[in-house]
Amino acid sequence: MDKFLINGPCKVKGKVSISGSKNASLPILAATLLFDKPVIIKNLPRVKDIKTMLNLLKSLGSKIILSKDKKTVKIINKKKMKTFASYSLVKTMRGSILVLGPLISKFCKSKTSLPGGCLIGARPVNYHLSALKKLGMNYKIKDGYILAKTKGRLKGNTIKFPKISVGATENSIIAACLAKGKTILKNCAIEPEIKDLTNFLNSAGAKIRWSGRMCKILGTDSLNQTEYTVMADRIEAGTFCVAATLTKGNLEIKNFNPDIIKAELELLRKVGARIKIDSNKLTVIGPEKIKPIKNIKTREWPGVATDMQSQLMVLMCRADGKSSITENIFENRFLHVGELQRLGANIEIKKNKAFIYGNTKFIGAELMSSDLRASVALVLAAMISNGKSSINRIYHLDRGYENLEIKLKKIGVKIKRLKK
Ligand code: UD1
Repeated sequence: MDKFLINGPCKVKGKVSISGSKNASLPILAATLLFDKPVIIKNLPRVKDIKTMLNLLKSLGSKIILSKDKKTVKIINKKKMKTFASYSLVKTMRGSILVLGPLISKFCKSKTSLPGGCLIGARPVNYHLSALKKLGMNYKIKDGYILAKTKGRLKGNTIKFPKISVGATENSIIAACLAKGKTILKNCAIEPEIKDLTNFLNSAGAKIRWSGRMCKILGTDSLNQTEYTVMADRIEAGTFCVAATLTKGNLEIKNFNPDIIKAELELLRKVGARIKIDSNKLTVIGPEKIKPIKNIKTREWPGVATDMQSQLMVLMCRADGKSSITENIFENRFLHVGELQRLGANIEIKKNKAFIYGNTKFIGAELMSSDLRASVALVLAAMISNGKSSINRIYHLDRGYENLEIKLKKIGVKIKRLKK
Protein backbone atom coordinates (compact mmCIF):
# COMPACT_ATOMS: atom_id res chain seq x y z
CA MET A 1 0.00 0.00 0.00
CA ASP A 2 1.36 3.41 -1.00
CA LYS A 3 2.10 6.04 1.61
CA PHE A 4 2.89 9.75 1.68
CA LEU A 5 5.97 11.21 3.30
CA ILE A 6 5.59 14.87 4.22
CA ASN A 7 8.32 17.05 5.63
CA GLY A 8 6.90 20.04 7.48
CA PRO A 9 6.34 22.81 8.12
CA CYS A 10 5.40 24.02 4.63
CA LYS A 11 3.84 27.14 3.20
CA VAL A 12 1.70 26.97 0.07
CA LYS A 13 2.30 29.52 -2.65
CA GLY A 14 1.43 29.76 -6.33
CA LYS A 15 -1.48 28.51 -8.41
CA VAL A 16 -3.56 25.37 -8.36
CA SER A 17 -6.27 24.23 -10.76
CA ILE A 18 -9.37 22.42 -9.50
CA SER A 19 -10.37 19.12 -11.12
CA GLY A 20 -13.82 17.86 -12.02
CA SER A 21 -16.13 16.89 -9.16
CA LYS A 22 -16.11 13.25 -8.13
CA ASN A 23 -19.50 13.51 -6.41
CA ALA A 24 -21.07 15.11 -9.49
CA SER A 25 -19.45 12.67 -11.93
CA LEU A 26 -20.72 9.55 -10.12
CA PRO A 27 -24.49 10.15 -10.47
CA ILE A 28 -24.01 11.54 -13.99
CA LEU A 29 -22.15 8.37 -15.03
CA ALA A 30 -24.82 6.19 -13.38
CA ALA A 31 -27.52 8.13 -15.24
CA THR A 32 -25.93 7.30 -18.60
CA LEU A 33 -27.53 3.85 -18.18
CA LEU A 34 -30.82 5.53 -19.18
CA PHE A 35 -29.54 6.35 -22.67
CA ASP A 36 -29.94 4.47 -25.97
CA LYS A 37 -27.83 7.06 -27.76
CA PRO A 38 -24.14 7.87 -27.12
CA VAL A 39 -23.25 10.29 -24.32
CA ILE A 40 -20.04 12.26 -23.89
CA ILE A 41 -18.97 13.38 -20.40
CA LYS A 42 -16.08 15.81 -20.02
CA ASN A 43 -13.93 17.00 -17.09
CA LEU A 44 -13.99 13.72 -15.16
CA PRO A 45 -11.45 13.63 -12.33
CA ARG A 46 -8.86 10.87 -12.70
CA VAL A 47 -9.55 9.20 -9.37
CA LYS A 48 -10.19 5.65 -8.25
CA ASP A 49 -13.94 6.04 -7.61
CA ILE A 50 -14.52 7.14 -11.21
CA LYS A 51 -12.55 4.13 -12.45
CA THR A 52 -14.74 1.92 -10.26
CA MET A 53 -17.95 3.45 -11.66
CA LEU A 54 -16.70 3.05 -15.25
CA ASN A 55 -15.84 -0.59 -14.50
CA LEU A 56 -19.31 -1.09 -13.09
CA LEU A 57 -20.89 0.39 -16.24
CA LYS A 58 -18.63 -1.83 -18.35
CA SER A 59 -19.74 -4.88 -16.36
CA LEU A 60 -23.34 -3.96 -17.17
CA GLY A 61 -22.57 -3.83 -20.89
CA SER A 62 -21.73 -0.18 -21.62
CA LYS A 63 -18.96 0.50 -24.10
CA ILE A 64 -16.54 2.94 -22.47
CA ILE A 65 -14.27 4.98 -24.74
CA LEU A 66 -11.85 7.11 -22.71
CA SER A 67 -9.83 9.99 -24.15
CA LYS A 68 -6.04 9.86 -23.88
CA ASP A 69 -6.02 12.09 -20.78
CA LYS A 70 -8.90 9.99 -19.30
CA LYS A 71 -10.94 13.13 -18.55
CA THR A 72 -13.49 12.62 -21.32
CA VAL A 73 -15.54 9.51 -21.84
CA LYS A 74 -17.91 8.43 -24.59
CA ILE A 75 -20.44 5.88 -23.39
CA ILE A 76 -22.43 3.70 -25.76
CA ASN A 77 -24.94 1.27 -24.29
CA LYS A 78 -25.88 -2.07 -25.84
CA LYS A 79 -29.50 -2.78 -26.76
CA LYS A 80 -29.52 -5.55 -24.22
CA MET A 81 -27.70 -4.68 -21.01
CA LYS A 82 -26.98 -6.73 -17.90
CA THR A 83 -28.72 -5.70 -14.70
CA PHE A 84 -26.44 -7.28 -12.11
CA ALA A 85 -24.23 -5.00 -9.98
CA SER A 86 -21.91 -7.36 -8.12
CA TYR A 87 -20.74 -7.06 -4.53
CA SER A 88 -17.09 -7.05 -5.62
CA LEU A 89 -17.64 -3.75 -7.46
CA VAL A 90 -20.20 -2.16 -5.15
CA LYS A 91 -18.39 -2.85 -1.85
CA THR A 92 -15.49 -0.53 -2.65
CA MET A 93 -17.71 2.49 -3.30
CA ARG A 94 -21.08 3.38 -1.79
CA GLY A 95 -21.86 5.59 -4.79
CA SER A 96 -22.46 2.36 -6.77
CA ILE A 97 -25.98 2.23 -5.29
CA LEU A 98 -26.76 5.01 -7.79
CA VAL A 99 -27.08 2.41 -10.58
CA LEU A 100 -30.22 0.99 -8.94
CA GLY A 101 -32.51 3.87 -10.03
CA PRO A 102 -31.47 3.88 -13.70
CA LEU A 103 -31.42 0.05 -13.99
CA ILE A 104 -34.93 -0.34 -12.64
CA SER A 105 -36.22 2.59 -14.65
CA LYS A 106 -34.74 1.52 -17.98
CA PHE A 107 -34.66 -2.28 -17.77
CA CYS A 108 -37.43 -2.95 -15.21
CA LYS A 109 -35.22 -5.23 -13.12
CA SER A 110 -31.95 -5.25 -11.26
CA LYS A 111 -29.88 -7.23 -8.82
CA THR A 112 -27.75 -4.71 -6.99
CA SER A 113 -25.49 -5.47 -4.07
CA LEU A 114 -26.17 -3.57 -0.85
CA PRO A 115 -23.19 -1.29 -0.30
CA GLY A 116 -22.67 -2.36 3.31
CA GLY A 117 -21.40 -0.37 6.26
CA CYS A 118 -18.87 2.35 6.26
CA LEU A 119 -16.50 3.71 8.89
CA ILE A 120 -18.21 7.10 9.14
CA GLY A 121 -21.61 5.65 10.05
CA ALA A 122 -24.21 3.03 9.27
CA ARG A 123 -25.19 4.76 6.01
CA PRO A 124 -28.30 2.74 5.16
CA VAL A 125 -30.10 3.03 1.79
CA ASN A 126 -33.67 2.89 3.15
CA TYR A 127 -34.63 6.29 1.66
CA HIS A 128 -33.43 5.19 -1.78
CA LEU A 129 -35.51 2.01 -1.53
CA SER A 130 -38.70 3.56 -0.19
CA ALA A 131 -38.65 6.35 -2.81
CA LEU A 132 -38.14 3.89 -5.68
CA LYS A 133 -40.91 1.70 -4.22
CA LYS A 134 -43.27 4.66 -4.44
CA LEU A 135 -42.41 4.90 -8.14
CA GLY A 136 -43.46 1.26 -8.59
CA MET A 137 -40.37 -0.79 -7.78
CA ASN A 138 -40.94 -4.05 -5.91
CA TYR A 139 -37.97 -5.45 -4.09
CA LYS A 140 -36.68 -7.92 -1.57
CA ILE A 141 -33.33 -8.19 0.12
CA LYS A 142 -31.63 -11.57 -0.25
CA ASP A 143 -28.04 -12.62 0.46
CA GLY A 144 -26.87 -9.00 0.62
CA TYR A 145 -28.51 -8.08 -2.70
CA ILE A 146 -31.48 -5.89 -3.57
CA LEU A 147 -33.58 -7.95 -5.97
CA ALA A 148 -35.80 -5.41 -7.68
CA LYS A 149 -38.32 -5.47 -10.48
CA THR A 150 -41.22 -3.51 -11.81
CA LYS A 151 -44.25 -4.31 -13.96
CA GLY A 152 -43.51 -2.16 -16.99
CA ARG A 153 -42.42 1.45 -16.69
CA LEU A 154 -42.16 3.18 -13.32
CA LYS A 155 -45.03 5.52 -12.56
CA GLY A 156 -44.64 9.11 -11.39
CA ASN A 157 -45.68 9.85 -7.81
CA THR A 158 -45.30 12.43 -5.05
CA ILE A 159 -42.58 11.56 -2.57
CA LYS A 160 -41.48 13.41 0.52
CA PHE A 161 -38.09 12.35 1.85
CA PRO A 162 -38.20 11.94 5.66
CA LYS A 163 -34.64 13.29 5.83
CA ILE A 164 -32.50 15.14 3.31
CA SER A 165 -30.30 12.66 1.46
CA VAL A 166 -27.97 13.42 -1.45
CA GLY A 167 -27.88 9.87 -2.82
CA ALA A 168 -31.61 9.15 -2.40
CA THR A 169 -32.49 12.41 -4.17
CA GLU A 170 -30.14 11.55 -7.05
CA ASN A 171 -31.36 7.95 -7.42
CA SER A 172 -35.01 9.08 -7.45
CA ILE A 173 -34.45 11.90 -9.97
CA ILE A 174 -32.61 9.58 -12.35
CA ALA A 175 -35.31 6.91 -12.07
CA ALA A 176 -38.16 9.41 -12.55
CA CYS A 177 -36.78 10.70 -15.87
CA LEU A 178 -38.17 7.73 -17.79
CA ALA A 179 -41.20 7.11 -15.53
CA LYS A 180 -44.76 7.58 -16.81
CA GLY A 181 -46.18 10.94 -15.80
CA LYS A 182 -45.16 13.47 -13.22
CA THR A 183 -42.98 12.89 -10.15
CA ILE A 184 -42.78 15.45 -7.38
CA LEU A 185 -39.93 15.05 -4.91
CA LYS A 186 -40.14 17.05 -1.69
CA ASN A 187 -37.48 17.77 0.94
CA CYS A 188 -34.74 17.09 -1.61
CA ALA A 189 -31.03 17.59 -1.15
CA ILE A 190 -30.02 20.57 -3.31
CA GLU A 191 -26.23 20.24 -3.30
CA PRO A 192 -24.56 21.76 -6.41
CA GLU A 193 -23.69 18.23 -7.58
CA ILE A 194 -27.42 17.41 -7.75
CA LYS A 195 -28.06 20.54 -9.80
CA ASP A 196 -25.21 19.43 -12.06
CA LEU A 197 -26.93 16.05 -12.49
CA THR A 198 -30.25 17.68 -13.41
CA ASN A 199 -28.51 20.12 -15.79
CA PHE A 200 -26.94 17.09 -17.47
CA LEU A 201 -30.26 15.25 -17.73
CA ASN A 202 -32.06 18.36 -19.02
CA SER A 203 -29.32 18.78 -21.66
CA ALA A 204 -30.51 15.39 -22.98
CA GLY A 205 -34.18 16.36 -23.06
CA ALA A 206 -35.31 15.40 -19.54
CA LYS A 207 -37.95 17.67 -18.05
CA ILE A 208 -36.76 18.55 -14.56
CA ARG A 209 -37.64 21.77 -12.75
CA TRP A 210 -36.60 22.97 -9.30
CA SER A 211 -38.37 25.13 -6.79
CA GLY A 212 -36.45 25.32 -3.51
CA ARG A 213 -36.23 21.80 -2.08
CA MET A 214 -38.95 20.55 -4.45
CA CYS A 215 -38.08 18.85 -7.73
CA LYS A 216 -40.65 18.19 -10.48
CA ILE A 217 -39.86 15.65 -13.13
CA LEU A 218 -42.05 15.01 -16.13
CA GLY A 219 -41.15 11.57 -17.47
CA THR A 220 -40.11 11.18 -21.12
CA ASP A 221 -39.90 8.08 -23.33
CA SER A 222 -36.18 8.43 -24.02
CA LEU A 223 -33.24 10.78 -23.72
CA ASN A 224 -31.25 12.38 -26.54
CA GLN A 225 -27.59 12.24 -27.39
CA THR A 226 -25.68 14.80 -25.32
CA GLU A 227 -22.27 16.14 -24.39
CA TYR A 228 -21.77 17.55 -20.88
CA THR A 229 -18.93 19.07 -18.84
CA VAL A 230 -18.94 18.12 -15.14
CA MET A 231 -18.66 20.94 -12.56
CA ALA A 232 -15.50 21.51 -10.53
CA ASP A 233 -14.92 19.75 -7.20
CA ARG A 234 -15.96 22.06 -4.37
CA ILE A 235 -14.38 19.89 -1.68
CA GLU A 236 -11.03 19.93 -3.44
CA ALA A 237 -11.34 23.71 -3.84
CA GLY A 238 -12.27 24.14 -0.17
CA THR A 239 -9.38 21.94 0.92
CA PHE A 240 -6.85 24.11 -0.95
CA CYS A 241 -8.43 27.25 0.57
CA VAL A 242 -7.88 25.75 4.04
CA ALA A 243 -4.28 24.83 3.08
CA ALA A 244 -3.54 28.48 2.22
CA THR A 245 -5.21 29.81 5.37
CA LEU A 246 -3.45 27.28 7.58
CA THR A 247 0.08 27.86 6.29
CA LYS A 248 0.06 31.67 5.98
CA GLY A 249 0.12 30.89 2.28
CA ASN A 250 -0.78 32.87 -0.82
CA LEU A 251 -2.62 30.68 -3.26
CA GLU A 252 -4.57 31.29 -6.46
CA ILE A 253 -7.19 28.56 -6.80
CA LYS A 254 -8.60 28.46 -10.29
CA ASN A 255 -10.97 26.75 -12.66
CA PHE A 256 -14.09 26.75 -10.46
CA ASN A 257 -17.00 28.97 -9.46
CA PRO A 258 -16.29 30.36 -5.94
CA ASP A 259 -20.05 30.44 -5.20
CA ILE A 260 -19.94 26.67 -4.60
CA ILE A 261 -17.92 27.15 -1.38
CA LYS A 262 -19.63 30.28 -0.04
CA ALA A 263 -20.31 28.95 3.47
CA GLU A 264 -16.73 27.70 3.88
CA LEU A 265 -15.25 30.98 2.59
CA GLU A 266 -17.28 32.87 5.16
CA LEU A 267 -15.62 30.80 7.90
CA LEU A 268 -12.17 31.38 6.45
CA ARG A 269 -12.82 35.13 6.41
CA LYS A 270 -13.88 34.90 10.06
CA VAL A 271 -10.58 33.27 11.02
CA GLY A 272 -8.73 36.10 9.32
CA ALA A 273 -7.94 34.92 5.77
CA ARG A 274 -7.94 37.55 3.03
CA ILE A 275 -9.91 36.30 0.04
CA LYS A 276 -10.11 37.94 -3.35
CA ILE A 277 -12.83 36.53 -5.56
CA ASP A 278 -12.93 36.61 -9.37
CA SER A 279 -15.45 34.97 -11.66
CA ASN A 280 -13.71 31.62 -12.07
CA LYS A 281 -10.99 31.71 -9.44
CA LEU A 282 -10.00 33.15 -6.09
CA THR A 283 -6.90 34.04 -4.11
CA VAL A 284 -6.50 33.16 -0.43
CA ILE A 285 -3.88 34.81 1.77
CA GLY A 286 -3.49 33.17 5.17
CA PRO A 287 -3.46 35.33 8.34
CA GLU A 288 -0.56 35.67 10.80
CA LYS A 289 -2.89 34.59 13.60
CA ILE A 290 -5.89 32.27 13.08
CA LYS A 291 -8.95 33.34 15.10
CA PRO A 292 -11.01 30.61 16.79
CA ILE A 293 -14.68 30.04 15.87
CA LYS A 294 -17.30 28.86 18.33
CA ASN A 295 -19.89 26.49 17.03
CA ILE A 296 -19.13 25.58 13.44
CA LYS A 297 -21.96 23.27 12.32
CA THR A 298 -22.02 20.98 9.33
CA ARG A 299 -25.29 21.12 7.44
CA GLU A 300 -26.79 20.14 4.13
CA TRP A 301 -26.16 22.62 1.31
CA PRO A 302 -26.13 25.64 1.54
CA GLY A 303 -24.52 25.01 4.96
CA VAL A 304 -20.93 24.05 5.75
CA ALA A 305 -20.19 20.71 4.05
CA THR A 306 -19.59 17.65 6.22
CA ASP A 307 -16.89 16.75 3.67
CA MET A 308 -14.99 19.88 4.86
CA GLN A 309 -15.34 19.16 8.60
CA SER A 310 -12.01 17.39 9.15
CA GLN A 311 -10.04 20.03 7.23
CA LEU A 312 -11.65 22.82 9.27
CA MET A 313 -10.78 20.94 12.44
CA VAL A 314 -7.07 21.03 11.57
CA LEU A 315 -7.43 24.78 11.06
CA MET A 316 -9.07 25.17 14.47
CA CYS A 317 -6.19 23.24 16.08
CA ARG A 318 -4.01 26.18 15.08
CA ALA A 319 -6.48 28.88 16.12
CA ASP A 320 -5.68 31.24 18.96
CA GLY A 321 -8.25 29.89 21.47
CA LYS A 322 -11.08 27.39 21.86
CA SER A 323 -13.38 26.40 18.98
CA SER A 324 -16.08 23.81 18.49
CA ILE A 325 -17.48 21.87 15.55
CA THR A 326 -20.81 20.03 15.55
CA GLU A 327 -21.18 17.22 12.99
CA ASN A 328 -24.82 16.99 11.98
CA ILE A 329 -24.73 14.68 8.95
CA PHE A 330 -22.81 11.51 9.88
CA GLU A 331 -22.80 9.94 13.34
CA ASN A 332 -19.20 8.76 13.37
CA ARG A 333 -17.24 11.29 11.43
CA PHE A 334 -14.49 12.12 13.92
CA LEU A 335 -12.12 9.33 12.87
CA HIS A 336 -9.35 11.83 12.19
CA VAL A 337 -9.38 13.05 15.80
CA GLY A 338 -7.34 10.17 17.21
CA GLU A 339 -4.68 10.66 14.53
CA LEU A 340 -4.58 14.45 15.05
CA GLN A 341 -4.09 13.79 18.76
CA ARG A 342 -1.04 11.70 17.89
CA LEU A 343 0.44 14.83 16.31
CA GLY A 344 -0.31 16.79 19.49
CA ALA A 345 -3.87 18.10 19.01
CA ASN A 346 -5.97 18.87 22.07
CA ILE A 347 -9.51 17.85 21.08
CA GLU A 348 -12.37 16.63 23.22
CA ILE A 349 -15.42 14.85 21.76
CA LYS A 350 -18.85 14.97 23.34
CA LYS A 351 -21.38 13.07 21.23
CA ASN A 352 -21.41 14.81 17.83
CA LYS A 353 -19.54 17.88 19.02
CA ALA A 354 -15.77 18.41 19.04
CA PHE A 355 -14.12 20.99 21.29
CA ILE A 356 -10.80 22.08 19.88
CA TYR A 357 -8.30 23.80 22.14
CA GLY A 358 -6.11 25.74 19.72
CA ASN A 359 -2.49 26.88 19.60
CA THR A 360 -1.28 23.34 18.95
CA LYS A 361 2.26 22.86 17.73
CA PHE A 362 2.11 19.66 15.73
CA ILE A 363 5.11 17.32 15.71
CA GLY A 364 5.44 14.93 12.75
CA ALA A 365 4.43 11.29 13.32
CA GLU A 366 3.33 8.13 11.55
CA LEU A 367 -0.37 8.35 10.69
CA MET A 368 -3.13 6.10 9.37
CA SER A 369 -5.84 7.14 6.90
CA SER A 370 -9.35 5.97 7.67
CA ASP A 371 -11.63 7.55 5.04
CA LEU A 372 -11.38 9.97 2.17
CA ARG A 373 -11.92 13.29 3.96
CA ALA A 374 -10.23 12.26 7.22
CA SER A 375 -7.12 11.41 5.20
CA VAL A 376 -6.84 14.82 3.60
CA ALA A 377 -7.02 16.38 7.07
CA LEU A 378 -3.96 14.32 8.01
CA VAL A 379 -2.14 15.65 4.94
CA LEU A 380 -2.97 19.24 6.02
CA ALA A 381 -1.86 18.50 9.58
CA ALA A 382 1.40 16.95 8.38
CA MET A 383 2.02 20.09 6.31
CA ILE A 384 2.10 22.24 9.46
CA SER A 385 3.91 19.71 11.67
CA ASN A 386 7.53 20.07 12.58
CA GLY A 387 9.51 17.25 11.03
CA LYS A 388 8.57 14.16 9.05
CA SER A 389 5.18 12.51 8.93
CA SER A 390 4.20 9.43 7.02
CA ILE A 391 0.59 8.78 6.08
CA ASN A 392 -0.36 5.17 5.51
CA ARG A 393 -3.24 3.70 3.50
CA ILE A 394 -3.48 6.63 1.10
CA TYR A 395 -5.68 4.58 -1.22
CA HIS A 396 -8.46 6.46 0.57
CA LEU A 397 -7.08 9.71 -0.88
CA ASP A 398 -6.64 8.18 -4.32
CA ARG A 399 -10.39 7.48 -4.33
CA GLY A 400 -11.23 11.16 -4.51
CA TYR A 401 -8.34 13.59 -4.99
CA GLU A 402 -6.79 13.88 -8.43
CA ASN A 403 -2.98 14.10 -8.45
CA LEU A 404 -2.93 15.36 -4.88
CA GLU A 405 0.80 15.04 -4.30
CA ILE A 406 1.66 16.53 -7.71
CA LYS A 407 -0.57 19.54 -7.05
CA LEU A 408 0.82 20.02 -3.52
CA LYS A 409 4.42 19.66 -4.66
CA LYS A 410 3.89 22.41 -7.24
CA ILE A 411 2.76 24.85 -4.53
CA GLY A 412 5.66 24.17 -2.19
CA VAL A 413 4.73 21.14 -0.08
CA LYS A 414 7.55 18.66 0.56
CA ILE A 415 5.58 15.53 -0.21
CA LYS A 416 6.63 12.20 -1.69
CA ARG A 417 4.65 9.07 -2.57
CA LEU A 418 6.31 5.88 -1.44
CA LYS A 419 5.10 3.00 -3.60
CA LYS A 420 4.74 -0.43 -2.07
C1 UD1 B 1 -23.09 12.09 -0.31
C2 UD1 B 1 -21.65 12.31 -0.71
C3 UD1 B 1 -20.74 12.42 0.52
C4 UD1 B 1 -21.28 13.49 1.46
C5 UD1 B 1 -22.76 13.26 1.77
C6 UD1 B 1 -23.38 14.37 2.59
C7 UD1 B 1 -21.44 11.23 -2.87
C8 UD1 B 1 -20.91 10.07 -3.65
N1 UD1 B 1 -21.21 11.20 -1.55
O1 UD1 B 1 -23.16 10.84 0.37
O2 UD1 B 1 -19.43 12.75 0.11
O3 UD1 B 1 -20.56 13.45 2.67
O4 UD1 B 1 -23.51 13.15 0.54
O5 UD1 B 1 -23.22 15.59 1.95
O6 UD1 B 1 -22.01 12.16 -3.41
N2 UD1 B 1 -29.23 8.19 5.17
C9 UD1 B 1 -30.12 7.25 5.65
N3 UD1 B 1 -30.79 6.48 4.74
C10 UD1 B 1 -30.61 6.61 3.38
C11 UD1 B 1 -29.70 7.58 2.91
C12 UD1 B 1 -29.02 8.36 3.83
O7 UD1 B 1 -30.31 7.11 6.86
O8 UD1 B 1 -31.25 5.88 2.62
C13 UD1 B 1 -28.50 9.06 6.15
C14 UD1 B 1 -26.97 8.83 6.09
O9 UD1 B 1 -26.58 7.76 6.92
C15 UD1 B 1 -26.47 10.17 6.58
C16 UD1 B 1 -27.48 11.17 6.02
O10 UD1 B 1 -28.67 10.41 5.75
O11 UD1 B 1 -26.48 10.24 7.98
C17 UD1 B 1 -27.06 11.90 4.76
O12 UD1 B 1 -26.57 10.96 3.82
P1 UD1 B 1 -26.62 11.24 2.25
O13 UD1 B 1 -26.93 12.68 2.02
O14 UD1 B 1 -27.52 10.23 1.63
O15 UD1 B 1 -25.12 10.97 1.84
P2 UD1 B 1 -24.58 10.14 0.60
O16 UD1 B 1 -25.44 10.34 -0.58
O17 UD1 B 1 -24.28 8.75 1.04
